[in-house]
Amino acid sequence: THQWRGIIEEYRDRLPVSDTTPVVTLREGGTPLVPAQVLSERTGCEVHLKVEGANPTGSFKDRGMTMAISKAKEEGAKAVICASTGNTSASAAAYAVRAGMVSAVLVPQGKIALGKMGQALVHGAKILQVDGNFDDCLTLARDLSDNYPVALVNSVNPVRIEGQKTAAFEIVDMLGDAPDIHVLPVGNAGNITAYWKGYKEYATDGVSKRTPRMWGFQASGSAPIVRGEVVKDPSTIATAIRIGNPASWQYALAARDESGGLIDEVTDREILRAYRLLAAQEGVFVEPASAASVAGLLKAAEQGKVDPGQRIVCTVTGNGLKDPDWAVAGAPQPVTVPVDAATAAERLGLA
Ligand code: F0G
Repeated sequence: THQWRGIIEEYRDRLPVSDTTPVVTLREGGTPLVPAQVLSERTGCEVHLKVEGANPTGSFKDRGMTMAISKAKEEGAKAVICASTGNTSASAAAYAVRAGMVSAVLVPQGKIALGKMGQALVHGAKILQVDGNFDDCLTLARDLSDNYPVALVNSVNPVRIEGQKTAAFEIVDMLGDAPDIHVLPVGNAGNITAYWKGYKEYATDGVSKRTPRMWGFQASGSAPIVRGEVVKDPSTIATAIRIGNPASWQYALAARDESGGLIDEVTDREILRAYRLLAAQEGVFVEPASAASVAGLLKAAEQGKVDPGQRIVCTVTGNGLKDPDWAVAGAPQPVTVPVDAATAAERLGLA
């Protein structure tokens, strides 16, 4: 009878909700913090993975969405809209169902993973594929929410950040203090903003003794913060973070600078290497964008930037099932056998 109640009930006193806020929840949050043995050995550190793919719709977006949809419902909204590279739309669509609201989602045409498109479809979202990239979708979503009766639930909506900061609370609650370093993939830069806010709040209130250094990693083809300029035509196989003009850019810089952290880039090759390592050696299947955090940690370690003995948390943001193409690509086809134990045993190398 005692299950995790979702982030609003678990952290009610730290969120902008009142007794009259209708709580729209799928019991998100409370995700596993998994010790990463191979990454710990490689870095000489104590590395943990915050496995956000274990959320109800398979990504960290659910933490922000329970807040955004609850507040939209409280304010009487009948419809919500978002721009998305896939995960936000999947989450918005699911939480809108719970709230009895209509959801509209704008996605860049041909650039979202099949699993995410399937989620938005099956939850009954109204989907428009935009002839443009994520940044164009966000411009359009803002325009529509400014001029039509529809509430914007992207992370430019501050209650999204409030919900997402609870991941930092969970980590401190679990470890007893903040880690030395927290590593994240960066796309629109909402999540790094949210974690930093959560860590700062706990430190200010004395729940933790310190805050971590925040390390963010963008994909090389979509690395506007690293370059210091908007990327007009962003590219990367990690479609979730294929973003050229992040909405929370300034907050990401603040998180980096206030924490003494860094924002760097990783190539698609490095992302895929980390993706395969996580699945094959840690047993954790994530989507490619999520592996950018781990790729970044490994890159920094190879550059000698990681002193041994530190406690490090890498957020892996989304479930591998969202985008299985990359798991199948390049892998050998399974062999077909008759219903015969001797043959099967031989093919399995058991005989
Ligand atoms: N990882 C995954 C799996 C994501 O879906 C996203 C963002 C990020 C990392 C980056 O987080 O934007 O807060 O810096 N996905 C958004 C979406 C853009 O539409 O689903 P961020």
